[in-house]
Amino acid sequence: MRHLLILGLALAIAAPSVYARAIPNPNQRHAPGNEAPQTPIAQANYSVGVNYQLQCAGCHLPDGTGSAANDTPRMAGFVGNFLKVPGGREFLVRVPGMSQSALNNAQLADLLNWLLREDGMAGASAPKNYPPYSADEVAQLRHETMLNLPGTRAQLIKEMRTQGIAIDDGMND
Ligand code: HEC
Repeated sequence: MRHLLILGLALAIAAPSVYARAIPNPNQRHAPGNEAPQTPIAQANYSVGVNYQLQCAGCHLPDGTGSAANDTPRMAGFVGNFLKVPGGREFLVRVPGMSQSALNNAQLADLLNWLLREDGMAGASAPKNYPPYSADEVAQLRHETMLNLPGTRAQLIKEMRTQGIAIDDGMND
C-alpha cells in the first residue's frame, strides 16, 4: 500500500514534464507549398474588390449593408451623402476601418473612389460632380486622428437632415 502511494505521488510529480513541450515547436515546418512568407496586402496588388472583401467586408458585409447590431452603418446606397456635407469628405478617410487599414494610401484612394461610385456602394447617394480622392489627400487625412467619432458623425448626419437627405444608414437614428 505504501509503495503504491509513493508510485502514485511520483507519477503525479512527473506528469507535467511529460506533457510539457516547447511552444512553438522548434521542429515545426511550413506546410508543403506554403513555404514563402505571405505578401503584405499593401504590396499584393489585389483588385479593389478583393481589398474590400479582405479588409472591410468582415464588418460591413460583402454587399455593404452593414449591421446595426454591431454598430456598423449601411454604406450601400448611403455613403455618398457624406460628400454633400462639410467635413464629410475628411470623415470618410478618418473612420478607423479606413485610416487604420493595412492598405496603402493609393489603394485606399482607389477603394474610396470605388465605394462612391454608383455601381460601387454609393448607388445614387453621391453628388453629381466631386473630385476623386488621391493618394496624397488620403496620406494627409488618415494620420489626423478623429478624437470624437460619434460626435463628428452625429454632426454630419444632422447637417444631412437639414438638407432633407433621408438617413438611410440602417442605424435607426
Ligand atoms: C472591425 C470592423 C470594421 C472594419 C474591418 C471596417 N469597418 Fe468601416 N466602420 C465600422 C464601424 C463600426 C463604423 C461606424 C463608425 C465607427 O464606429 O467607426 C464604420 C464606419 C465606416 C464608414 C463611415 C460610414 C458611416 O455611415 O459612418 C466608412 C465609409 C467605412 N466604415 C468604410 C470602411 C472601409 C472601406 C473598410 C475597409 C478598408 C472598413 N470600413 C473596415 C466597422 C468596420
